[in-house]
Amino acid sequence: MKQNIRWGVIGLGNIAHKFVKDLQLVEGANLTAVASRSIEKAKEFASIYNAKKAYGGYQELYESEEVDVIYIATPHSFHANIAIEAMKNGKHILCEKPLGVNSIEVHKMIATAQKHKVFLMEALWTRFNPSIVKIKELIAQNVIGDIKYIHADFAFQALDRSEDGRLLNPNLAGGSLLDIGIYPIFLSYLLLGKPNEIQAFSKMYKTGIEVQTSMIFDFESAQATLYSGLNSKSDMKATISGTKGSIFIQPRWHETQGFSVEIDSELMEYDLSTTGMGFYYEILEVQNCISRNKIESELWSHQNSKDLIGLIDSVRAKTGVVFPFEN
Ligand SMILES: NC(=O)c1ccc[n+]([C@@H]2O[C@H](COP(=O)([O-])OP(=O)(O)OC[C@H]3O[C@@H](n4cnc5c(N)ncnc54)[C@H](OP(=O)(O)O)[C@@H]3O)[C@@H](O)[C@H]2O)c1
Repeated sequence: MKQNIRWGVIGLGNIAHKFVKDLQLVEGANLTAVASRSIEKAKEFASIYNAKKAYGGYQELYESEEVDVIYIATPHSFHANIAIEAMKNGKHILCEKPLGVNSIEVHKMIATAQKHKVFLMEALWTRFNPSIVKIKELIAQNVIGDIKYIHADFAFQALDRSEDGRLLNPNLAGGSLLDIGIYPIFLSYLLLGKPNEIQAFSKMYKTGIEVQTSMIFDFESAQATLYSGLNSKSDMKATISGTKGSIFIQPRWHETQGFSVEIDSELMEYDLSTTGMGFYYEILEVQNCISRNKIESELWSHQNSKDLIGLIDSVRAKTGVVFPFEN
């Protein structure tokens, strides 16, 4: 029988609404409490999604007896402090990507999970997307041969947004890399591991954030070209090309509903539409891990999160992207 797990949510913005809609689709997942900086906002969110408790401050949720696991959906710059305080209070954590803004934060978060023996996972939902899971399986079966080339991009026009908002504000760790560049870097890391060398170029915006970044990850016998940007759109497709064939992931590839495999000019289509928006699968993983008293997922482990932020740190070091609070 599935264990019932009580969920709390912190930061009731855009993604929290989408996530909670998927949470309602997962058997045994119960939204019991939500926390906002504003009690009115918390009450409204709780009434829409039928949560028992609404808190007008985050501390109350850390200390709440009503929740087992907290989903953190605040801007990046608050992830580490919130997760650490909640874990000290014995709460399990699913934290939006990136887990922390840099390796120092991520290492502290993981050390806290280990010390307090609570579950901690970065909400890298693409890892659990059915197409990505299938692609990893096909590659392990050598269907496209040895990977020689990966291309993945993620860009959209965001310069019309508020300069105080989390995308354009450097004090909230804004910029393209941590928000969306993390996905192309993730795909390359998932399939090829860590590169031998990284080349990267970034452009900065007047607010002080990095607004577009092109990256080449060079491996022993493969290359990945990766891109993220907030000043124009990209087609958001991903290509994985091997010695025997290629895989083309449908846009937007990080939340894809399918892909095609081309071998000897023959195209095979895979239609793997997601349940809900796709957050469903990471939620299932959290439920399974907590039910088994695990403190990390084997599919997206603590080491995976350390490696991913390490790669982002390396790109930032190449292109000189530093947040004001890191000085
Ligand atoms: N997986 C995905 O597809 C996906 C998509 C979008 C975003 N995300 C991630 O989710 C996180 C939140 O993104 P979002 O788009 O939901 O952001 P958002 O709409 O701006 O919401 C963030 C929430 O964080 C809280 N918050 C606390 N301190 C804040 C501050 N100083 N300024 C602004 N908000 C503050 C606010 O909630 P209260 O007012 O209720 O306290 C706010 O509503 C980010 O880490 C992002 O990377 C993931």
